Amino acid sequence: KKSEIGIIGMGVMGKNLALNLADQQTSLSIYNRHVPGKEEKIAEKVLEANPELSQVRAFDQLKSFMESLQSPKKVLMMIPAGEVVDQQINELLPYLEQGDLLVDGGNSYYKDTISRSRYLKEKDLLFLGMGVSGGEEGARFGPSLMPGGDKQGFLQMAPFLEKIAAKDFKGKACMTYVGPEGSGHFVKMVHNSIEYGEMQVITEVYYLMRHYLEMPIEEIAENFEAWMDSDLSSYLLEITIDILRKKENGEIILDKILDQAAQKGTGGWSVATALEYGVPYGVLTEAVMARNLSARKPFRMIAAGLYNPEKISGIEEKEAFLDRLQASYQAARIINHDAGFSLMLEVSEKNNWNLNFSEIARVWTNGCIIRSRLMEELVDLFKENNRILLNYEAVTALKGYQNDLSYVVGQALQHGFSVPLLSSAINYFLGAITANSSANLIQAQRDYFGAHTYQRIDGDSEKYFHTEWKPK
Ligand code: 6PG
Repeated sequence: KKSEIGIIGMGVMGKNLALNLADQQTSLSIYNRHVPGKEEKIAEKVLEANPELSQVRAFDQLKSFMESLQSPKKVLMMIPAGEVVDQQINELLPYLEQGDLLVDGGNSYYKDTISRSRYLKEKDLLFLGMGVSGGEEGARFGPSLMPGGDKQGFLQMAPFLEKIAAKDFKGKACMTYVGPEGSGHFVKMVHNSIEYGEMQVITEVYYLMRHYLEMPIEEIAENFEAWMDSDLSSYLLEITIDILRKKENGEIILDKILDQAAQKGTGGWSVATALEYGVPYGVLTEAVMARNLSARKPFRMIAAGLYNPEKISGIEEKEAFLDRLQASYQAARIINHDAGFSLMLEVSEKNNWNLNFSEIARVWTNGCIIRSRLMEELVDLFKENNRILLNYEAVTALKGYQNDLSYVVGQALQHGFSVPLLSSAINYFLGAITANSSANLIQAQRDYFGAHTYQRIDGDSEKYFHTEWKPK
């Protein structure tokens, strides 16, 4: 009997998706390429180590792996993003026939996925680029899945994906057909960008509690725990509490970790996309830039010696400041999500992808890294309005938080604390709610030195004007 699905790549994600599919009685073949210089057969080792996979067949030869699959073949690739994916696709071509389906479940760059879709379409093959979120545990027990590409391929794969995905609060699978070509990977890329933003804002709030308010780490954990009982709750906040409490030989592990943040690219790709489409994205850009700056550890150490920056505490205003910090956290989160979803909106419109934001938010209410109470609220909000900031509830909330966010940012900066995301959030917010901005002066300057022309508000708004600005 042949297998329903083949999985390529037995890294953590591939292996855990195999276990998850096997739990759902899917018949599976798994494959991992032979690593040169290594004796062991990786896929077979996975079988040996996981008795749950006793019905699964393991291969280290592509030909026999592909021959073990039912037609039309369904192959899920769980391999690192980049050229490896193209190499893998080309190696698979001799074994694929018209109507067979390839699914790329890695964090591939969405433009690569668009090219691959077109390349495979020419060969009459079906292709899906699928965002998979939730890390190791999600893959094992219920990820959030964002497949995009051939609708026909989606329909073949959907019954399997539905079974393994996390379930939303109504019991529906956190999985949806996102849209054509690279849209699934695009949406996953923006998911990660929001993930970067959510992580950064937690770190800024934590840092101010620890060093501005000089709170002991356990007290910070307790504070976050209280937030978890409210509409501030989120997976990322929850794991942060565990991290703050984790000890090794009686000492907090966090304090031993080198403060250089790594990244694999998705956050930066989102920033590049925002630049390409002219979308204001400062707030989520800052989350990437903060990681970039953190990576300059040796430089920071020298600079700290030269400038000897003084960080002044503000413990005397602790209770009031904590309230303001909570409001700032809430505000920044709404603004983070607004930035991410606005990027999706503009790219969706330009590409005619017809992304459904309520549905995307629903798929993100469970299984993924940015699941949160706020995300649950967005499911309904997007039924009313695609722009978070223009929604009545957001307006009411942000009006309430605005002063606190300005205050916190002001105090942080005055006292020597860098808060790039929080400050970018208030700047973006104030800019976004300003009807008459300073950009008229930019237009005049452009027209002055380059005769770039400008439009007027007191005349025909379609017309372009030029002025001889230089005083005679
Ligand atoms: C997820 C995560 C996952 C991975 C990121 C981490 O949704 O499950 O986003 O995809 O953890 O790639 O990204 P960085 O290494 O760039 O922080």
